[in-house]
Amino acid sequence: MDIKPFQSFLPTNVSFGVGVTRSIGELCAHKRVMVVTTGLKRSGILNRIIREAGTPADLLVFDEIEPNPTCESVDRGGYLARINEIEVVIALGGGSALDAAKAVACLRDEREEIVAASAGIRSYLLGERAFARRSTQLIAIPTTSGTGSEVTNVAVFSDPVNHYKKSMVSPWFWNDYAFVDPELTVTVPEKHTAATGLDALVHAIESFWAVSSTPFSEPIALEAVKLIMDHLLRAYHNPEDIGARTKVSLGSMMAGIAFSQTRTTILHALSYPLTVDFHLEHGFACSVLLKPMLQTNAPLIPKKVARLLDYLEAPSLERLLQRIEELMVSVDAPVHLKALGVQEKDLEGIADQTLRSPLTKLNPKAFTLEELIAWLKENR
Ligand SMILES: [Fe+2]
Repeated sequence: MDIKPFQSFLPTNVSFGVGVTRSIGELCAHKRVMVVTTGLKRSGILNRIIREAGTPADLLVFDEIEPNPTCESVDRGGYLARINEIEVVIALGGGSALDAAKAVACLRDEREEIVAASAGIRSYLLGERAFARRSTQLIAIPTTSGTGSEVTNVAVFSDPVNHYKKSMVSPWFWNDYAFVDPELTVTVPEKHTAATGLDALVHAIESFWAVSSTPFSEPIALEAVKLIMDHLLRAYHNPEDIGARTKVSLGSMMAGIAFSQTRTTILHALSYPLTVDFHLEHGFACSVLLKPMLQTNAPLIPKKVARLLDYLEAPSLERLLQRIEELMVSVDAPVHLKALGVQEKDLEGIADQTLRSPLTKLNPKAFTLEELIAWLKENR
């Protein structure tokens, strides 16, 4: 196999395993700390992290982040971090908390008048401004297995006022530290285990088939696909099975590392209108069209498909597609847009929104608007 030239950048210091969060105390000692979270209902986790933070000079909990974090809550977090002169931002939660904390930490350093004049995170999200620095330490502690946000420089925000959801990247969005403790995921409810696990599976598969994949990212993505395919169902049925939770957590983090090098592709672009307009959970919005898109991409990437089948010990593409569908059905995930109330008249809008995302350019199959509408009709 020829090795094509590539670049990689992985600046996050990762600790993985049961109990690893114990060492956050060293990073928080005598510092002004802010925990950014989503109103974590799963009792015990927030208290445990506060206890493990040890002896900070001050500790503020900002728990107003909602699922699909909005520009408003991120701006408010940034404001509170600024006036409290926060030095360490700890993101605690799922993808929403982790993404929001990245922006909160960066907004903390902006001057008040600039934030006011440029309308907060919105102007960064729309590319009108770019973050130039981040003085706080940024620590991510994921409590779900799926987002991968702990090891990427990507964050996704929603603007309900202007009706869009958009991802952004910034060199300041890499976490300084990630503490991935599978034990924190044992209380994740069934449905959420399914959605986040499938999100991670899509991260891995999209990273693998992306035109931007590299000889470095591909094996990481392959192993992530295998870990999730082999263990998600066990974690779903036996939430306290720490062995299965550990495998899925590792797969999710590896998928994050893989897509941090490549980005995701058209399934993530499709997921944004599906979450904004049809209120679908992110993971399900990404996975609902996984099977038909793999079928469509496969003839364009025969060598990658052969490697995927070999790695997963699948005798044929048809068998693999069947395994994916069986897994999705077993965890009660939607496998058709129709079942989600998406009607034929909605498809043009979904296709139009999707093609606005630069992620679509990384998909092996390039679509025109007409082609994507026709594809969605066929696979609805
Ligand atoms: Fe995702």
